Amino acid sequence: MVRSAILGTGSYLPKKRVSNKELEEIVDTSDEWIKTRTGIEARHIISDGETNSVLAQKAAEMAIEMAGISPEDLDLVIAATLTPDMPMPSVACLVQDAIGAKNAGAFDLYATCSGFLYGLTVADGLIRADISKKILVIGSETLSRRVNWKDRTTCVLFGDGAGAVVLGASSENNRGIMSACLHSDGSLGGLLTIRGLGTRHDLKKTLENEWQYIEMNGREVFKHATRALEAVSIEAIEAAGWADASMIDLFIPHQANIRIIEHMRERLGISRERVFINIDKYGNTSAASIPIALDEANRKGRLFPGARVLMSAFGGGFTWASVAMRW
Ligand code: ACO
Repeated sequence: MVRSAILGTGSYLPKKRVSNKELEEIVDTSDEWIKTRTGIEARHIISDGETNSVLAQKAAEMAIEMAGISPEDLDLVIAATLTPDMPMPSVACLVQDAIGAKNAGAFDLYATCSGFLYGLTVADGLIRADISKKILVIGSETLSRRVNWKDRTTCVLFGDGAGAVVLGASSENNRGIMSACLHSDGSLGGLLTIRGLGTRHDLKKTLENEWQYIEMNGREVFKHATRALEAVSIEAIEAAGWADASMIDLFIPHQANIRIIEHMRERLGISRERVFINIDKYGNTSAASIPIALDEANRKGRLFPGARVLMSAFGGGFTWASVAMRW
């Protein structure tokens, strides 16, 4: 059976780092509140000249280099994002041009914080169907442009960044993506939304109502996220044919809140040292969070051949997803 495997990883964070202490000067918050409620200590934010596609390009180049391929070997670029440079052209097309992936198709995928796992699942299907050979899957976000820096309930949570992987066919039977589970519930979409800047409302109305910013009912999202993440993680473990979560060598959850991660870890029965956490450094980078964590884990030597890796994410829409793989 053909499986798809990750051949290379990359990630890139904007240079500018903003600590909780610095946010204390902008909104009525405290380092103590942010740390205890979320686990976040700092986040990286784009400066002038840095855009979503620039971050994505840098992460992509690292992944391509590690994979030992040429950009011309890619036949598809998928960029998961909810904060593209602009509606058209897509981030994927901007990256395709910037890296010289002359033989690749390119499209953006819009599934919020679960976007990278959705992208990985689509890419896995295309490779297993022998439609594509090598696919670049990116998760890249610049949510700093979509948060209201006067709203303490959201602005402390998010950060910018990008991660990328090159996916290709694996000749080894025991390597690659073993299962992928995708879910959604659009009826709850209003609990986490950016109402404006689509085509439903005109720009004047959007700006008057400040609908260009992210709005979130944090408590409700928290409740749904914990339930959904536990269920989808169990589903992916079972679909991979693993006895239970104790078989996982590294769990890479979406980095939205340390309390959500800790809740999941306890419910699934995974020991602390087998969970990868970097929310303290970067905050919630939405679709970029899992590929950034995956790249850091890879470069730190936390992944070894055959390692069982579980990745689970939850985000606006609502969407949620889990992918189980052997490294
Ligand atoms: N600093 C200080 N106080 C604050 C802050 C802040 N930054 N933000 C909120 N508070 C206050 C509130 O006003 C409230 O005060 P009150 O009791 O006087 O009304 C109090 O702190 C408690 O607020 P809660 O919202 O109940 O705090 P909670 O413990 O739920 O934490 C949080 C909020 C961190 C947002 C949490 O609910 C959460 O993480 N939710 C899930 C987020 C998530 O997973 N999102 C999904 C992915 S994002 C995406 O898809 C783009």
